Amino acid sequence: MAAVSNTFENVKATILSAHENTTAESKVNFYNSWAENYDQDIALLEYRAPSLAANSMSSHFSGDREAAVVLDLACGTGLVARQMKRHGFGHFVGIDGSEAMLNVARESGLYQDLKQSMLGDEPLPVQMGLFDVVVIVGAMSVGQVPVGVVRELFKFTKPGGLVCMTTRSNHANLEYKAALEHELKQMQDEGLCTCVEVTEVKDWERGVSEQEDGYISGAVYIYKKLQF
Ligand SMILES: C[S@@+](CC[C@H](N)C(=O)[O-])C[C@H]1O[C@@H](n2cnc3c(N)ncnc32)[C@H](O)[C@@H]1O
Repeated sequence: MAAVSNTFENVKATILSAHENTTAESKVNFYNSWAENYDQDIALLEYRAPSLAANSMSSHFSGDREAAVVLDLACGTGLVARQMKRHGFGHFVGIDGSEAMLNVARESGLYQDLKQSMLGDEPLPVQMGLFDVVVIVGAMSVGQVPVGVVRELFKFTKPGGLVCMTTRSNHANLEYKAALEHELKQMQDEGLCTCVEVTEVKDWERGVSEQEDGYISGAVYIYKKLQF
C-alpha cells in the first residue's frame, strides 16, 4: 500500500507537541509513537544532519572504512548509517532509547547490533575503547541527550578514533550549544581530545516554532580522541 504523504504543517504540529515532553522518558515515548512516519516526516523538514555528518566524517576518516566499527548513538531509524554506508563504512552498532525507532532501524538491515538504552541515565551497553568512529546526530539538544554524555562518547572511542556530533543553533538550543562547546573545550584542555573541524551550517533544517521563519542553523563537530 502506498504511504500517505504528510504535510509540513502537520509535521510541525507533531514536533511542537513533543516540546511538552519534558522528561527523557516522555520524549522517548514520543519517538515510539513517531517511528513509523519519522523518515517521511523528517524529509519534509529538509532534515540534512545525517548526510552533513556523514560527509564531514568521510572527509576526515583515513582508515579502512569497511573494517571500521561505527557506534551510532541515538541512531533512531538508521538514517546516519544509511548515509555513512554510501561513503563506504560497513560495520554499525546502534543504540537508542526508543524501541520502536530501533525496530525500524532493524528492518533496514544496516546494523550488526542494536541495543535499547537511555543515554545519560545508565551505562552504555557496549565495550569501552572499541569503536573507530562514534556518531550522535540529531539528539544532542535541549530536552534530549544531556550535555554531560559528551564525555561518555570519548570513552567508547579508540585512541585516534573520531567522534562526530551535531547540534542546532536555533534560539531555544543556544544555552545547550554553549554548554556543549564549553565541555568540549574543557576536554581539550585536559588533553582528552582535539578539535578536527567545526562546520556551522546556515540552512540546517526548516524551523518549526513561531519565532523561526524559514531555516534554522546547526553545526557538525568532528573531534579526535587522544587518550583513554
Ligand atoms: C531526531 S532523532 C535522530 C535520529 C537519527 N540519529 C537521525 O539523525 O535521524 C533523535 C533520536 O534520539 C533518541 N533519543 C533522544 N534522547 C535520548 C536519550 N536520552 N537516550 C537515548 N536515545 C535518545 C530518540 O529516541 C530518537 O530516536
